[in-house]
Amino acid sequence: MEEAIASGGAVEIDLQSVTKRYAADAPPAVEEFSLTIPAGEIVVFVGPSGCGKTTTMRMINRLVKPTSGRIMIGGRDAAEMKTDVLRRHIGYVVQQAGLLPHLTVRQNIETVPRLLKWDRKRIRERTSELFDLVGMEEEEFAGRYPRELSGGQQQRVGVARALAADPPILLMDEPFGALDPITRDRLQSELLKIQRRVRKTIVFVTHDIDEAIKLGDRVVVLQERSRIAQQGAPDEILAEPANRYVRAFIGGGAAVKRLHLVRIEDLELRPYPTFAAGDDYDAVIREVDELRLDYALLLDGRRRPLRWLHRDELEDRPTDPVSEGQPVAGVVTATTTLHDAMDEMLSSGTGIVPAVDDGGGFLGAVRLDQVTAALEETHVTPVAEQADAAPVRTVAEITGEIDRRDIEAEQARQDAERDVERGEATA
Ligand SMILES: Nc1ncnc2c1ncn2[C@@H]1O[C@H](COP(=O)(O)OP(=O)(O)OP(=O)(O)O)[C@@H](O)[C@H]1O
Ligand SMILES: [Mg+2]
Repeated sequence: MEEAIASGGAVEIDLQSVTKRYAADAPPAVEEFSLTIPAGEIVVFVGPSGCGKTTTMRMINRLVKPTSGRIMIGGRDAAEMKTDVLRRHIGYVVQQAGLLPHLTVRQNIETVPRLLKWDRKRIRERTSELFDLVGMEEEEFAGRYPRELSGGQQQRVGVARALAADPPILLMDEPFGALDPITRDRLQSELLKIQRRVRKTIVFVTHDIDEAIKLGDRVVVLQERSRIAQQGAPDEILAEPANRYVRAFIGGGAAVKRLHLVRIEDLELRPYPTFAAGDDYDAVIREVDELRLDYALLLDGRRRPLRWLHRDELEDRPTDPVSEGQPVAGVVTATTTLHDAMDEMLSSGTGIVPAVDDGGGFLGAVRLDQVTAALEETHVTPVAEQADAAPVRTVAEITGEIDRRDIEAEQARQDAERDVERGEATA
């Protein structure tokens, strides 16, 4: 563990038959849970409320002590490590960020490095790096208090704080659960981007299957008492749900959910006519016509997309194109999923979204027909068409939300079926 920290690397976590009973006479919250979490991967626990996700996660940093079983971190038994050492070396992010309200953003972020007695210069440098990593302006935000931040900004600071001492492990318990859908999408994408740079072992808890599919290298679908209903890569789970429970949890629209798995970088970007203020209009119009398009994209001096101008507007050869056409509503980057790209396209009205590099510079266009093509390529038999699929159900399920009672009823039915099978086998 100490060596892993020195190298800033990631470590494997191995949970071996871990059980947690909060009270001797109560049923266990987690029962015989075994799972290997590979170094440098994002593993997402997904399951309904009360199934034991938080308990399982908190046993890793020993905020909850296992009743039995063993947890190995980087090959060492966590029970034999000092708890304060363990917690300083495992970043932890919770809903509402869990920031200390009486400390400024800077003081919040610097908490662990200070505990570790880093020298001032190292702390300052690390903090600047973290502001950059989570996409916040240091000068603007360092001196503010948590209550002076939006929910999304608080979560960003929460992530910065958790990463401050470059821990090999990050535990994230529904960190984006309280955010509006747009902010949540953005922070999910940012987390993926950050993970590309820092490569931690991340355990992420959610009850949102879409979030699990988008973020997980591996997804672990949990049933009550943290029993593992299925684990695997997201596309495996979508393509072959192990049983009815998982199928019910995935809900309808598995094909659409697969759009979470394809990213802009997996597509071939299309050429698109662009121009800058002062450019020759004839050339742009020719390009628009050659590509059989309706619009050209106006870029600023740093090649960042500004506005869509229709061919008719180009014909007028406006001297100030910045006040013509319609503004570019959103852009996508390499790690944006097609699911989110589609949202951008539908809200932009052009059916096209510009893809940009890290500096915001235009790379190419993504069109709606590419999304539909990708959907066909990654085609899986829709759940509803699978021979043994459960009947198509409620709107809540179709949107990926599920009713806990449905799952319980489903489990009861499975149990009953199994009993019948056993009865037949012994008869
Ligand atoms: N400190 C505690 N004392 C006693 N029982 C607890 C305690 N914490 C959790 N439990 C119980 O253990 C079970 C699992 O709880 P846990 O918080 O791990 O679930 P969860 O999957 O994280 O749920 P949610 O999605 O609602 O956060 C629940 O039945 C809960 O009531
Ligand atoms: Mg929880």
